[in-house]
Amino acid sequence: MNEELKEIAIRLQIGNYQRHIFLCVGPSCCSAQIGAGAWKKLKDELKARNLSLSDAPGACYRTKVQCLRICTGGPILVVYPEGYWYSGMTEDRIDRFIDEQILKGKPIEEWIFARNPIG
Ligand code: FES
Repeated sequence: MNEELKEIAIRLQIGNYQRHIFLCVGPSCCSAQIGAGAWKKLKDELKARNLSLSDAPGACYRTKVQCLRICTGGPILVVYPEGYWYSGMTEDRIDRFIDEQILKGKPIEEWIFARNPIG
């Protein structure tokens, strides 16, 4: 086994996460500027709440992507294992998303346009 990979995984706390969030930052589903704002807010809030690089309850791994093949109504976000697909995830929606979806496990129905639970 590659020791460097093991060390990176340990540093990133892979194995401790309860959810994985993918956020598309455009440029087709939203402008690059709106996508960048949403990504910064998601990253900053997860860090501020000790939900990133953490083994705290509700800790999430986050991944910025440039297309989830929806290409309209973005920023598009998908969270696993629930497999809830969210639209319009602009910066101003991130606090509520973390409060309800991530910390309470309560989906925000009016923002969800598709479901694909895993497991
Ligand atoms: S560019 Fe965001 S889903 Fe395609």
